[in-house]
Amino acid sequence: MTGPKVWALVTGAGSGIGAALAAALVTEGVGVVLVGRRAAHLETVAKPLGPAALVLPGDITRPEDRDRIKATLDTELDRRGAVLRFVVHNAGIGDPSQNFASTDPETLARAFDVNVVAPLALTQALLPMLRQAAPARVLLVGAGIADRPQPGTGIYGISKAATARLMRQMAMDFDHEGDATAPAVALFQPGLVETEGLHAHVAAASACGLPHAAWLAGRLENGDAQTPETTATLMSTAMLRLPVAEFHGRQLQHHDLSPLLG
Ligand SMILES: NC(=O)c1ccc[n+]([C@@H]2O[C@H](COP(=O)([O-])OP(=O)(O)OC[C@H]3O[C@@H](n4cnc5c(N)ncnc54)[C@H](OP(=O)(O)O)[C@@H]3O)[C@@H](O)[C@H]2O)c1
Repeated sequence: MTGPKVWALVTGAGSGIGAALAAALVTEGVGVVLVGRRAAHLETVAKPLGPAALVLPGDITRPEDRDRIKATLDTELDRRGAVLRFVVHNAGIGDPSQNFASTDPETLARAFDVNVVAPLALTQALLPMLRQAAPARVLLVGAGIADRPQPGTGIYGISKAATARLMRQMAMDFDHEGDATAPAVALFQPGLVETEGLHAHVAAASACGLPHAAWLAGRLENGDAQTPETTATLMSTAMLRLPVAEFHGRQLQHHDLSPLLG
């Protein structure tokens, strides 16, 4: 069967950074498995990518969806004589709240499910496939707010801080195993990127009267945000070309990677 022999799975591939990353990886000759809840969005992103894209809709927080994604992927890659070498945990959520008192523990738990528990569980599920495709790489997506608290950003910031810690733990545990087939793992921090998710965050933060909403809106107005395409090029370049010693266990900042684009 023709088509790419090396594939990447990207969560949250139906919009924003994930959609642009899917296109960037296909340009590099890598097939892309698009995961997200809204199947129609995934199909729209996949259409121009042709046979280099595979749409597997699902909610990454649901164990049955993760099992189905893994089982279908196994069959589909086998049929294509291809391997899964890359996983990008790009799906992320984190609603702002008006203040500490209104920071809803259930919403925080939901953010942990998407930003921390699902990346751990999905990586575990896909690990046998990644080992077969060694040298494999896993990229988690962090957020600057994890290290720079702003009023009302606890749900997003605390859960993304845990995403960063998850990356360090995975790198540590894989190193401890001393198994050369374990994937290299890194975290990417995108900076400000103009996406539907960012616009939704600014609107929600503004409705809560949070000071960072006006700051973000001002930066968007000034054209300070990056495009999803530029961000995606940085991410795919880091995944495909950064030497493993500069990737594994690292928190990669978008501005540090910009020189990679020449
Ligand atoms: N834009 C920025 O300035 C910025 C800055 C720092 C970090 N980030 C991070 O970058 C990543 C991408 O963000 P973005 O700006 O491109 O926002 P976005 O357009 O809102 O993308 C988030 C994606 O995650 C998917 N998703 C959410 N929950 C899911 C679930 N349970 N299962 C499967 N997919 C799920 C959404 O698709 P469905 O709703 O269809 O499931 C959506 O496509 C996020 O992790 C975000 O935190 C963005």
